[in-house]
Amino acid sequence: MSRVLTGIQSSGIPHLGNILGAIIPAIRLTQDHQNESFIFIADFHSLTSLKDGEARKRNVYATAATWLAFGLDVDKTIFYRQSRIPEVAELTWYLSCFTPYPMLANSTSFKDKSDKLADVNAGLFTYPVLMAADILLYQADLVPVGKDQLQHLEMTRDIANAFNHRMGAEILVLPEAKISEDVMIVPGTDGQKMSKTYNNFIDIFLPEKELKKNVNKIITDSTPLEAPKNPETCNLFKLYKLVAEPDQVAEMREKYLAGNYGYGHAKKEFLDLLLEKYGKMRATYDHLMANPEIIEEKLSIGESKAKLIANTVLDEIRVILGYR
Ligand code: ADP
Ligand code: TRP
Repeated sequence: MSRVLTGIQSSGIPHLGNILGAIIPAIRLTQDHQNESFIFIADFHSLTSLKDGEARKRNVYATAATWLAFGLDVDKTIFYRQSRIPEVAELTWYLSCFTPYPMLANSTSFKDKSDKLADVNAGLFTYPVLMAADILLYQADLVPVGKDQLQHLEMTRDIANAFNHRMGAEILVLPEAKISEDVMIVPGTDGQKMSKTYNNFIDIFLPEKELKKNVNKIITDSTPLEAPKNPETCNLFKLYKLVAEPDQVAEMREKYLAGNYGYGHAKKEFLDLLLEKYGKMRATYDHLMANPEIIEEKLSIGESKAKLIANTVLDEIRVILGYR
């Protein structure tokens, strides 16, 4: 049995790209009962950029509500909020003292961010050590991440190795990154990769009227209504294809090729599809957001399990380091 662990950012309401590209595949992975899975909301990491406490709380709820609405089972997956197991901050300190300064200075993500951001704080610099602690505290074997996180995984292995070697104990487990090969890129309303940063995302949890406006923002070309249209180059068709069933896609393709079918019609069908396919998730999401105590209760199940595991591992480290 492998222990699979991953952290998710809580930077707002997850959009259709996050849902199709990350959330649904990760939930599928948790349903493989050969694995023991841990999924946590990285709310300590969010402090490197977000300082507004109310916004942080809202983002954590929106992120948790999305995962729960899409079927994450809290009895089978250890689902928790990072900050509720503050032991991770203790381990971060220990690991910091085994992390060579140049390793952090060479981090590509730090270099990228420090070039762009006004607030270049020490937390941003030590971000990879906190991420290493997230992983090592739970002795994870496999960490599913995007390619952009590979260097952080290498640092985690290097830090664990340095600790084990220096302390003469094989206590920290070296994790492997799990990069999914068939990553789907969901296009945004403007055809670029859908991203919060480009403000081109579709928020499937909006009330119907606003969701309609959101869908109407999808950019299409100026082929006249009567003319046949090319589904392969159409952004709207690409989005439809990612959500619809194969027979629905085939039908839509025929309508495009036949002509006398406008983008307005296609947008209406895409909206109806979103409302139908995600109707249950939208209702669950709204219910959870209106009753955050249910979210708290769901998270507390994972938090108590995570806390036990964290303290068992940490106790060994405390002893080795002479703190106990
Ligand atoms: P954003 O670009 O909106 O800030 P994040 O970087 O927070 O999104 O991504 C969170 C997760 O969602 C990552 O695993 C990322 O790979 C996935 N993801 C984000 N945007 C897309 C997209 N357009 N298509 C597929 N997956 C995506
Ligand atoms: N840094 C990751 C990201 O930006 C999130 C994260 C934090 C994480 N801690 C982790 C991912 C531990 C995997 C394991 O997406």
